[in-house]
This record gives sequence, C-alpha cells and structure tokens, in this order.
Amino acid sequence: YLPFVIAALGGYLLGSIPFGLLITRAAGLGDIRTIGSGNIGATNVLRTGRKDLALATLLLDSFKAGLAVLIFTLVFSDRNTGLIAGAAAFLGHCYPAWLGFKGGKGVATYAGLLVFASLKGLMIGGPAWLIMFLVFRISSLAALTAAALVPVGAFLLGETHFAVAVLTALSVLVFWTHRANLARLVKGTEPKFGQKKKDAG
Ligand code: G3P
Repeated sequence: YLPFVIAALGGYLLGSIPFGLLITRAAGLGDIRTIGSGNIGATNVLRTGRKDLALATLLLDSFKAGLAVLIFTLVFSDRNTGLIAGAAAFLGHCYPAWLGFKGGKGVATYAGLLVFASLKGLMIGGPAWLIMFLVFRISSLAALTAAALVPVGAFLLGETHFAVAVLTALSVLVFWTHRANLARLVKGTEPKFGQKKKDAG
C-alpha cells in the first residue's frame, strides 16, 4: 500500500494549491472568498467579471489533478495509483490544510482527473455538463448532473470496478461540497449566469 500512501500525499499537496485564490489576489481583486458564493473555484472567479482569470483558474485547477494522475501513474506504472493521486488532489482542493480545510467544490479537479484517468467517465458526464450549462446557465446544476452521471456512464462503458468505485466516491463528495447550492436549487434561488449572488456558501 506504500504507493497509494505516497500518491495520496503527493496528490493532496498538488490539489491543495488554491489557484483561484492566488490568481485573483495577484490580480488585485482582493479575497475571492468574500465575493459571490465565496467559493475559490472558476465559477466564482467568473463573477468578478474577469473571464481570463476564470479560464486560468479552470485550467490550472483541472491540470493540478491531471498532473497528479500523470505523475503517480508513471512513477508506479499503475493506473489505480494514479487514480488515488487524482482523488487525493480533489480532496486537497476541497479541503486544503493551508486554508483551514475550507477549499473549493471539486468540479474542475474532477474534470482534470477524468481527462487524464478515465475518459470513459468523461464521455457521458462531460457532454451532460455542457448541455445542462447551456440550457440552464447554472454552474452548480450542470456540475451535479454531471457528477451523478459520471460513475453511471463509466460503469456502462466498461470502466474497471476500482475506477467506478473511486468515481462514485468523488461524485458523492461533489454533492456534499454543493450542499448549499443544492439547497438554493431546491428553493429556486441559485443564481444563473449574469445575475449577482448575494448569500454566501
Ligand atoms: O464548480 C463549482 C460550481 O459548481 C458552483 O460554484 O461559486 O456557484 O458555488 P458556485
């Protein structure tokens, strides 16, 4: 199990780099955690009006998980170890020690993990995210729909049991990190893109 432990630690460290926070701070926008939903992810960076910074956050948050997968798959020549590293990067993003374990919601890191570790997981979840976002313009709704469909899609496309188990765990966690969004979606108060969000969470 030593490779799993090393991959988990390395993945966590990579995932815990809060790019959204660092990028917006460097751009002089202050603390992203005091803006919009208070989240450190690309969706909330977009609420600052800076599309370039939101795109950079999306790409870097995705890539840190992808990189974790890549590094530990290669180092240990084992795909499952890479998956563990990617899952740990997701956890590092959502629960970074440096920010009092209050991080992001894990959607970009999840996407990065899928791109590098499970295209079968991406194949249904990816388009589902896009369609839901284009139709409803609500990032959280798109993310939750995709999260629900990723493990199902992966399973149906013949992904390994280990990968399906990891993806299922991550999807459950996405619902947990989006619990405030979920409550607002049920109440019908989750903002669409173009609207300002007032309540935190
Ligand atoms: O990726 C996070 C997104 O699904 C929701 O973000 O800022 O609207 O809570 P936010």
